[in-house]
Amino acid sequence: MATMESLIGLVNRIQRACTVLGDHGGEGSLWEALPSVAVVGGQSSGKSSVLESIVGRDFLPRGSGIVTRRPLVLQLHKTESGSEYAEFLHAPRRKYPDFAAVRKEIADETDRITGKSKQISNVPIHLSIYSPHVVNLTLIDLPGLTKVAVEGQPESIVRDIEEMVRSYVEKPNCIILAISPANQDIATSDAIKLAREVDPSGERTFGVVTKLDLMDKGTNALDVLEGRSYRLQHPWVGIVNRSQADINKNVDMIAARRKEQEYFANSPDYGHLAHKMGSEYLAKLLSKHLESAIRARIPSIVALINKTIDELEAELDRLGRPIGVDGGAQLYTILEMCRAFDRIFKEHLD
Ligand code: GDP
Ligand code: NA
Ligand code: MG
Repeated sequence: MATMESLIGLVNRIQRACTVLGDHGGEGSLWEALPSVAVVGGQSSGKSSVLESIVGRDFLPRGSGIVTRRPLVLQLHKTESGSEYAEFLHAPRRKYPDFAAVRKEIADETDRITGKSKQISNVPIHLSIYSPHVVNLTLIDLPGLTKVAVEGQPESIVRDIEEMVRSYVEKPNCIILAISPANQDIATSDAIKLAREVDPSGERTFGVVTKLDLMDKGTNALDVLEGRSYRLQHPWVGIVNRSQADINKNVDMIAARRKEQEYFANSPDYGHLAHKMGSEYLAKLLSKHLESAIRARIPSIVALINKTIDELEAELDRLGRPIGVDGGAQLYTILEMCRAFDRIFKEHLD
């Protein structure tokens, strides 16, 4: 019997196979049936910062304006030991031990599809990170919700982004990581507004409050963090990311996590919640939840894998066997993978 952890690894591999097949989550598709975590929030709410501190590495492109213009599917794989590296699905044979190069490749690959036009595209970029310091988790970074187009962007971009984000979060299998900055009214949070629409009972929404350190003196976010302002089924998690000044001073991730822990431990407002706050706690909470969400959906995933197997077999029959080194060979490889997934998932059912 495989461990719980390997379930997330399995789903990671299926998601990559789906992307190769051109399945980005259409109605009834296999991808749609796979649980994953999507990060949602307004521009500059701290989405990238939260993702980076969950990973413990700087690797996301930064800048003002809409930096994230394609979905980034980020798969974290916990390894037993050894060095950390990243790998892109679009460049499978290249290992990236240097995370500055990862950042550049995300930016270049974004432009490759969208041009430099600042348009957005719903074709995801797949990035895997292998490290002994991560938890097994799949996170999808999405463009930030925005209210106005900036110079050089078409007016339609505001709606286009909202539609793209909605297409992810409206899926019943999507776990929503809704990011709201503490220095803005939670009632007006773009993330909570959208989450409330697609998940009114709050059963698949995790509320995250960033920028606790930036609140006005004499105020705190206890009403939000303790669930009195807006009730969700899961506990709210407070986060203190690096400030822009910290980033400019190259404060590294390890130091930032330590500072965050100290902030909560020493806070007169949040001290009693310290063990349930911060990015490390959030990562563990999400990983645990993702595992149980996958476990609960094994029967429907198996059914869809079998449907995919049938479709692939029909397609291969149409192409005629034996299969050459063209597209057919790739389909065949994926078919074999699906059969293996089917076997392993069924073991989890026993
Ligand atoms: P995104 O646009 O949602 O991805 O937001 P970013 O993660 O890029 O953050 C936007 C800006 O807010 C950056 O300058 C961050 O350094 C800063 N920031 C994010 N979270 C925090 C936080 O918890 N505290 C402080 N002081 N600054 C933060
Ligand atoms: Na940003
Ligand atoms: Mg960002």
